[in-house]
Amino acid sequence: MKELVSENIKRLVPYPPGKPIEELEREYGIKGSIKLASNENPLGPSPRAVEAIKKALGKLHRYPDGSGYYLRQKLSSKFGIPFDGIVLGNGSNEIIDLLIRTFIAEKDEVIVTEPSFLVYRLMVQAIGGEPIPVSLKNFALDLNDVIEKCSRSTKIIFLNNPNNPTGSTIRKRDFEDFFGRLSSSTIVVLDEAYIEFVRDGDVVRGFDYVNSEGPFVVTLRTFSKAYGLAGLRIGYGVMHPLLADYINRVRQPFNANSLAQAGALAALDDDAFMHKTRKTVWNGLKFLYLEIEKMGLEYVRSDANFFLIKVNRNAKDIYEAMLKKGVIIRAMNAYGLTNYIRVNVGTPEENKRFLQALREVLDMK
Ligand SMILES: Cc1ncc(COP(=O)(O)O)c(C=O)c1O
Repeated sequence: MKELVSENIKRLVPYPPGKPIEELEREYGIKGSIKLASNENPLGPSPRAVEAIKKALGKLHRYPDGSGYYLRQKLSSKFGIPFDGIVLGNGSNEIIDLLIRTFIAEKDEVIVTEPSFLVYRLMVQAIGGEPIPVSLKNFALDLNDVIEKCSRSTKIIFLNNPNNPTGSTIRKRDFEDFFGRLSSSTIVVLDEAYIEFVRDGDVVRGFDYVNSEGPFVVTLRTFSKAYGLAGLRIGYGVMHPLLADYINRVRQPFNANSLAQAGALAALDDDAFMHKTRKTVWNGLKFLYLEIEKMGLEYVRSDANFFLIKVNRNAKDIYEAMLKKGVIIRAMNAYGLTNYIRVNVGTPEENKRFLQALREVLDMK
C-alpha cells in the first residue's frame, strides 16, 4: 500500500499551539488571566484599524482586491520601496511558506539560526529541503558562523532581526561584510517582525538592500506585533520585483482578506498608537529588567517586546505553576533552552502581576 504521507511530514514536530485563554481558565478554574506568551501588543489593536475594519464590513460579499493595490501603494510611498516588490500575506508566516515553496526544491539547503523562530525549519522540512542549523553564541549571532555553513546548495538564509526568542539584533556593518561574501544566487531573508521596537540606529534594515540583483534580500514585516493586529493575519514581504514575480505565480489570488487590507492600511497612519506602543514596551522593559535583577535572576537584554529569563528550574514546571496563577508565559524547552522562560511586555498592571506570580512560584515572596 502507498504511504499516506512522505517521511518529511512524518518527521515533523508540530509548532507548539497554545490553548484558547477561555479553555485554560475553565481547566484551571481561574478568571481574568493575562497572556504574555505570544509577543502581542498589550494595548489592543490600532484604533484606526478597528474603525476602518468596521467601515469595510458592508463589502464582505465581494472578493478582496487580489493585488492589494491600496495597501501596497501606501507601503511603497511610506517606506520608499518598490510597489512591484511587495507581496502581501496572511501574516508574514504565509510569506515564509511562499518563499520556501517557490524557491526550495528537495535537498536544497536553507540556513536557520538556533534558537530562532521555529516555523522556518518546520516549513523547510515539510517540503523536503535541508535545514542547516547555525547556533547562536551567548544569545547572539555571529555571521561568520553562517558563512562557514554556506555551500553550493545554500538557497535561502533566514535571519531574524531582532531574533525571537533572544531579542538580539544584527549590526549594519556586520551584515555588509557578510553580504559581500555571499554567492549571487543566495536569498537572505531578514525577518523584521519586531523591528518597530528597535531603538539602535546601527541595526541593519532589509529595505536598504531591496534593489540588489544577487545576492537577494527579502524583508519580512508584520502587522501582528507593534500594530496590534495579530488576529487579522496580515504581513508582507519586500523583495526585488524579479522574486515577487515568481512568488505571485505560487500565491493564492485572495490570500490577503479585505478586512486585513483595510485594517493594515489605516494602521499605517496611526502614529499616536505606534508611539504609545513603543513607549509602553520600552518603559515596561526597563521596569521588568530592574525587578528581575532585584530577584537575582539572569535575563537576556532584548531589542524587541519580549525577553528571556533564566529561572534555574525546568521552564515547563514554571510555565505550569504560572498558568495556575492566571499568567500565561512561554517555556523555552522547545527551543532547547530548558531553564528559560520568555515573557513579552504587558501593560504596567500586567507586568506587576507577572512579577508577583513569578516571585510566588519561585518562592521569593
Ligand atoms: C520572528 C517571527 N516571524 C514571524 C512571525 C509571524 O508573524 P505573523 O503573525 O505575521 O504571521 C512571528 C510570530 O510570532 C515571529 O516571531
